[in-house]
Amino acid sequence: MDLHTLVLDLRSRSARVTAADAQGVVTVDLDAAACERVAQAAQPLFDWAHGRVPASSRTPRDATLVAFEVDALNRTLRLGYIAERSPISGAPLPSSGSPQTSPGTAMAQSQSGRPSQPGEPTALTWTEGDYGTLQVLLREAARTALREVRPRKSEPAELSYDARWEYLYQHGGDGWELARTPPPLARYLSTQLALSRGQHVLVVGAGRGHEALLLARQAQAVGAHVVAIDIAPTAVKTVQEAATQERLAETLHVVESDLFLRPETGPLAAASYDLIVEHCCFCAIEPSRRDEYVAQIARLLRPGGRFIGLFYCHSYPGGPPFGASIDEIKGRLGKDFVIDYEEVPADSVLSRVAQEWLIDAHCR
Ligand SMILES: C[S@@+](CC[C@H](N)C(=O)[O-])C[C@H]1O[C@@H](n2cnc3c(N)ncnc32)[C@H](O)[C@@H]1O
Repeated sequence: MDLHTLVLDLRSRSARVTAADAQGVVTVDLDAAACERVAQAAQPLFDWAHGRVPASSRTPRDATLVAFEVDALNRTLRLGYIAERSPISGAPLPSSGSPQTSPGTAMAQSQSGRPSQPGEPTALTWTEGDYGTLQVLLREAARTALREVRPRKSEPAELSYDARWEYLYQHGGDGWELARTPPPLARYLSTQLALSRGQHVLVVGAGRGHEALLLARQAQAVGAHVVAIDIAPTAVKTVQEAATQERLAETLHVVESDLFLRPETGPLAAASYDLIVEHCCFCAIEPSRRDEYVAQIARLLRPGGRFIGLFYCHSYPGGPPFGASIDEIKGRLGKDFVIDYEEVPADSVLSRVAQEWLIDAHCR
């Protein structure tokens, strides 16, 4: 899921989450317990606001941060604080009556200027937060909020590898779905890629095809060709339907296959592509197959072929998505690829801030 907005208010123990997935955009009001979990995950922001983390603060020194509104799509953040530091400062959640009895209450004025009435939430003063600087402090809150909206379900243990991916698609286990191309990849592919006539592009683990469709629009304009491969029939069908709807079916060829196969002919034949694009495919496959994955990407590319990837480099336990460090991926790529450009994007979706690695490499 892609978090669009998160509004948290400790005074009322309320949190509202708006997020998107393949089904569309949903807005959910979390219950008090879920709100508390999100507030705990947002503790780095509260620590920063209350001066426990050395960084310049736009929250006045004697104020207590009790609310925030983050709009991750528009990259804005508003901080709501009560005007005087109260005993609740730093606590993830005040008990429901505490803001009214805190020293902050005596000072608080509602927006109309009158003092807050008993039982009425303490009035807030709002200030703009610097989204670019503070986004990393909100990552875990965003991730927690998404998990509250769409809890991760366990899947049957007896499923085969490919059946498992299809099961995830069919039973709402596709928590990775952003319903769009991730911003760093959309930016990079739109500004740093100029396909030319006759070129062949492959998108591996294409999922619902956001990157494949973006590339196919560009390819169609110049006479290039795109192949999207995925092991899950539901994903393949979704991309095929989207390609047909956008009149891209002649440019975008969608293949249901295990990308590890090594046939002599067809879409997985050696040296078939000028460019391969990946997003969240490396992190999806079994870690024990990572070298095999890199070797297969190198095999599928023509000599000197280009590999553009946005890797999800997290350190959470379990998976998929399985964690990996930039150093690990770099080490595995080193034998077959030269990295021409790399960045830790500043425009990742909020729940993956500082955990993505964008590369543009070529095959040795
Ligand atoms: C985490 S999802 C990412 C999907 C898409 N790239 C995106 O970012 O939305 C991983 C995708 O890889 C596919 N996949 C996993 N193992 C595969 C394999 N061996 N061959 C082909 N596709 C595979 C899954 O079905 C799934 O669609």
